[in-house]
Amino acid sequence: MILAFLPLSIVIFLYFCKICTSNAPLLTDWPLVGMTPGMLKNVHRLHDFLTCLLQQSHHNFQFHGPFLANMDVLFTCDPANVNYILSKNFTNYPKGPEFGKIFDILGEGIFSSDGHLWEVQRRTTMSIFNHAQFYDMLQKTVGEKIEKALIPLLDHVSKHGIEVDLQDIFQRLAFDNICSLVLDHDLQSLSLDLPYIPYQKVVPDVEEAMLYRHFVPESIWKLQRWIKSGKEKTLSKARETIDEFLYTCISMKRKQVALKNSEHISAELDLSAAYMELAYKENPENPDKFFRDALVNIMVGARDTTSTALSWFFWLLWKNPRTESKILQEIKTNFNTEDLNNCNLFKKKEEMHKLVYLHAALCESLRLFPPVPLNHKAPKQPDILPSGHRVGKNSKILLSFYSMGRMEDIWGKDCLEFKPERWITEKGDIKHEPSYKFTAFNAGPRACLGKDMAFTQMKILATTIIHRYSIQVVAGHPIVPKGSVILEMKYGFRIRVEKRSEGK
Ligand code: HEM
Ligand SMILES: *[C@@H]1O[C@H](CO)[C@@H](O)[C@H](O)[C@H]1NC(C)=O
Repeated sequence: MILAFLPLSIVIFLYFCKICTSNAPLLTDWPLVGMTPGMLKNVHRLHDFLTCLLQQSHHNFQFHGPFLANMDVLFTCDPANVNYILSKNFTNYPKGPEFGKIFDILGEGIFSSDGHLWEVQRRTTMSIFNHAQFYDMLQKTVGEKIEKALIPLLDHVSKHGIEVDLQDIFQRLAFDNICSLVLDHDLQSLSLDLPYIPYQKVVPDVEEAMLYRHFVPESIWKLQRWIKSGKEKTLSKARETIDEFLYTCISMKRKQVALKNSEHISAELDLSAAYMELAYKENPENPDKFFRDALVNIMVGARDTTSTALSWFFWLLWKNPRTESKILQEIKTNFNTEDLNNCNLFKKKEEMHKLVYLHAALCESLRLFPPVPLNHKAPKQPDILPSGHRVGKNSKILLSFYSMGRMEDIWGKDCLEFKPERWITEKGDIKHEPSYKFTAFNAGPRACLGKDMAFTQMKILATTIIHRYSIQVVAGHPIVPKGSVILEMKYGFRIRVEKRSEGK
């Protein structure tokens, strides 16, 4: 199986080395059109291409768009710049007006807004996620989903030797979980027959189109939107599907609130009820629009990230069986068989710190494959970055979190290797890395609000799956990241599952 994979990975590796080590400029700056042709040619594999550009240019690369198209971008993966932009001079680096245009699908939700609208949504979301009882609800929701949906499914496919897309399964799982937690309604997209859920199907197309919009002049993508062609055609169809889903959720939630018949969620943990209340305050004319925006942001923020992180993690484990056996050993030492069999793990929040090696392996996986590979910023006022680069008012800056994990002078000569050990101190504790170096969850005042929640889900899931099953990637199936704003696996994650026999 591994042998079958070798030729392909060697080809990819050699190719990567070749483009990265050559000193010739990777992009030509043409008159009038700038570097756009070369960029569009590489946008399907943007993250690796960008990593080479940033390596050649020592962490900062100035991209020139077409003449007068306002498309210049400064790409950076320089920790000093990242620290300055995300934390030290946070107020001068909002997402900016351009972000809202590109990511119009997110409306004025937490990811796309700045100033007051961002602050109130952040405060509301945080108050619920940090609530003392939130952890218990999360642990229970995740455990039940695994027991009632994931295990029956994996048992079924292992028994019949069926090939499945594990990324799709993780997306369904994360989707059901966030819907249960936020809407108090389990959509049961994860079940034996893997039902077709239009919303789930279209989200990846949207994310791909969002990246493309960064490198095409606004007038052109707007024209494409108007005449309904190319990626913009897919996008407008997707938008309808997404809105239909969200407005159904909203009317369902209204009924739930009116009848006071929330099934499981107590009032102080009810995030969608809190958003609804906020909607009337912030946008009394059109509260449903505000509510829609808040919901879609939280759905994308939770589902696509967690499922992407899990997919890369399990792929890395498959490539590194030694790490897998170490985790398996750690699980056996720390949990008793009864809790393992009942999927009732990490009952108390403190237990999250128990599996040090698993935590290290998850961090290592997020370092190499951060689910959110880019972060978009636009200075309010002209400024000079710590690297000496000048940035103009409203100019575009893209921080490449993907490239940060792949720079030798940030992580050392072995930066491309998967080594959980780099996260463990000599005393056997987790080594803390500053968030401007390990940027998977962003840093500063806009750092991810779901980090603990993500680790909780990933740990419960990883523990259960690793303990019960061994996963085999289908021979010859190509695994590459997609050119998108979320670092999904481009062709999915085709695997077969084998049940571990007792004591193995
Ligand atoms: C492995 C999983 C996750 C990763 C890698 C991740 C990563 C990130 C990143 C990079 C950002 C900054 C985005 C930006 O500013 O453009 C962010 C923000 C955010 N994340 Fe996560 N996230 C994860 C899981 C979650 C989960 C499960 C939730 C729960 C709903 C969540 C909620 C949020 C929210 C609300 C923000 C917006 C913060 C703000 O702008 O103030 N995330 N996350
Ligand atoms: C942040 O940027 C502004 C605008 O250029 C500048 O005036 C200010 O001095 C910077 N603040 C810090 C803390 O560097």
